[in-house]
Amino acid sequence: MAGRPAVPPLGVKPLALLAFLALEHGPHSRERLAALLWGEHPDAAARASLRQAVMQLRDALGDTLRVTRDAVELAGPVDCDVHAFLRAAAEDPQAASAFDVPRFLTDLSVRHSPAFDEWASAKREELLRRYREILAARAREAMGRWQWRDAATDAARWLAWEPLADEAARLLVEARYLAGDRTGALACFAEFRDRLQAETGGTPSRALVQLARKIETHQGARPTRPITDEWYTWAPAFEAGLVGRTADLEILKKAWRGVQRGSGRVVLIEGEAGVGKTRLADEFLRWTLAEAGTVLRAHGYDARAGVPYGPVVEVLRDALEAPGLAGTDPQWLAEVARLLPEIRQRFPGLPEITPPPAPAEAWRLFEAVAQLLLAVAAEQPIAVAFDDLHWCDGDSCNLLHFLTRRLEDAPVLWCATLTLGELRREAPATRLCRALRVKARAAVITLGPLGEQEIWRMIREMGHVSAPTGGRRLAARLHEVTGGNPFYVIELLKTLFARGWLTTDAASGEWLVGPTPTGTADIAMSLSVHDAIAERIESLPPDLHDVLLTIAVADAGCWASVLSHVHGISRLRAATLADELAERRLVKEEEGVYRCAHPVIARVVRGGLTTSRRHELHRAIAVTLDHLAAEGGQAAPPSEIARHAEAGGERGLAYRQSRRASDAARQRYAYEEALAWLDLAAAMAVGPEESDAVNRLTAEILGMAGWREVPASVRRPEPGHREIEQQDLDLPVHS
Ligand SMILES: Nc1ncnc2c1ncn2[C@@H]1O[C@H](COP(=O)(O)OP(=O)(O)O)[C@@H](O)[C@H]1O
Ligand SMILES: [Mg+2]
Repeated sequence: MAGRPAVPPLGVKPLALLAFLALEHGPHSRERLAALLWGEHPDAAARASLRQAVMQLRDALGDTLRVTRDAVELAGPVDCDVHAFLRAAAEDPQAASAFDVPRFLTDLSVRHSPAFDEWASAKREELLRRYREILAARAREAMGRWQWRDAATDAARWLAWEPLADEAARLLVEARYLAGDRTGALACFAEFRDRLQAETGGTPSRALVQLARKIETHQGARPTRPITDEWYTWAPAFEAGLVGRTADLEILKKAWRGVQRGSGRVVLIEGEAGVGKTRLADEFLRWTLAEAGTVLRAHGYDARAGVPYGPVVEVLRDALEAPGLAGTDPQWLAEVARLLPEIRQRFPGLPEITPPPAPAEAWRLFEAVAQLLLAVAAEQPIAVAFDDLHWCDGDSCNLLHFLTRRLEDAPVLWCATLTLGELRREAPATRLCRALRVKARAAVITLGPLGEQEIWRMIREMGHVSAPTGGRRLAARLHEVTGGNPFYVIELLKTLFARGWLTTDAASGEWLVGPTPTGTADIAMSLSVHDAIAERIESLPPDLHDVLLTIAVADAGCWASVLSHVHGISRLRAATLADELAERRLVKEEEGVYRCAHPVIARVVRGGLTTSRRHELHRAIAVTLDHLAAEGGQAAPPSEIARHAEAGGERGLAYRQSRRASDAARQRYAYEEALAWLDLAAAMAVGPEESDAVNRLTAEILGMAGWREVPASVRRPEPGHREIEQQDLDLPVHS
């Protein structure tokens, strides 16, 4: 039993005596021991009782108990939990934390021995303190290793034994948040705050309050709705804690430390699709947020839906919520409003700026963005994240390059994920990456596949696997088939569930082998990732399948209203279908916009389309977007409408919208982009009038975009203008 030496049964007092001797080294005088245990008795009786107890112990322990006329001492070690715990505490905190310390000495209460009780409770308190220190150290250490779930477990245990410890609460809140459990984190905070208030009338530390506020304002992904039918209803979430990547996170963390010291940093995260770039960036960004950083993020999309500076606009939109924004000079804010008209709603008094901008003023827009970011960074360091940089448009790349240089001495971390294989040699992002790589304060993280052990860890965690070697063979097999690409691993697992090869135990969530592993053996494991996804898409009910196609073709995301128009269903029905796709993890939803859950999924879905079906979908999306914009509702950028209209063969619409896209680009000094849209307009123009208009605009913008008139002051006389002079006649003179 906890705290008791392993000896034959003893009476309460001899046992108490033994516990005291075991935990307090050295000889103890008989008077002291008698007073400790029989203090209420007359001296003679107390001494007699002690003598008896000592004799009992001698019988049980033999020579280990050293007894003299005046003193008693435990000479050798006795095997007891407390000693084992203290030993482990010094050598192996991992093992020490497994002891049930809170129970130590609890069953050693001795009646009528207040002195002993006092000693026992002081001893117990001392052991508990040691135990809390160990839990605290473990929680901190797990945080340091980015093992959020472990950290949360240890912090929760610590808090259970020290319910008012601010640091324990802070670690718990932070770890749960970082592990992706925003709601749980906030609930822990509220519980701690209320407890503190009720018990001490105090409030949590400033650091903890600030952390909670951060978490509150950071909108995490919406919790998915309860699931109702089919395989995915009993399939797990397929979300494992981050495995591996500790060294990579360290690189990011180091860059962030540099940023906190006040200088700009660049980190490029490279790797193939599905290897975990976005996930790594997400984990890191969540951490920076908890570290009092401002996080601004943007995404590139496969099908260049380009609004010029699209990703930069996304970054600026995030900055609308950032502290420090109001510190930007109104002139610059007005300039930024060219990219982000919403800014005028935030700051209604902004000065008007005169359209159309003169080309010589183009630098103002770049500088305005820089000024805005500088103001935000003055408040607290920023992490700017570009996901899938390889799909960023040329104008964004130029602006980005400018910003990384302009903000070199500001606390800004530029973090971009990209897949080099997606890049054409001459793509703007290729050049940008080349330029970024050689920067003095740049780091490149090349993400490789996960190892077999890491995949095993993922499976064990997702599958709540209890048997010590359970899932090892599956992990080895998955590793072999997928080459260690986590996205591919997860997709294959989904297929195994979809086929009924795997299932989950309803009570424990543990993965089990399905009851009827039907079908042709082994096929699933030889599927390519493409086939694994395609198979599940094919088996979707028709209405879900159709909605998924539209979402994939829309690529940059679409609202329920678009789905409703394209499919001729109510908005509610459209949202329900899209949500069902989200439950199947084929689609994700952010702020009312639906997209494929991963670019690879989008590609597989689009790959399965016939040309005519694709054509038809582009057309339907274009017409819908145009209609919605005309209605004054949600307005897609003209460029997006133009792109779909072109792909859907809607000539007139493509012409109109590409001209508007060109105008919009020109407003933003994005002359290359403006010209590119005019190229489309030229191709779509019908009749000489439309062609003429496009040609004239092209000439105008070409003039802005670099063709310069040579100033009069440096104009040379035109050739053939100088008169022929006598000295030019260098021939023999006639005599
Ligand atoms: N180290 C990891 N540990 C656990 N899961 C991971 C890890 N890396 C990636 N994943 C999971 O694999 C899937 C694909 O990762 P993602 O970051 O989207 O890939 P990428 O951005 O490189 O295409 C996601 O579901 C992600 O959560
Ligand atoms: Mg990604």
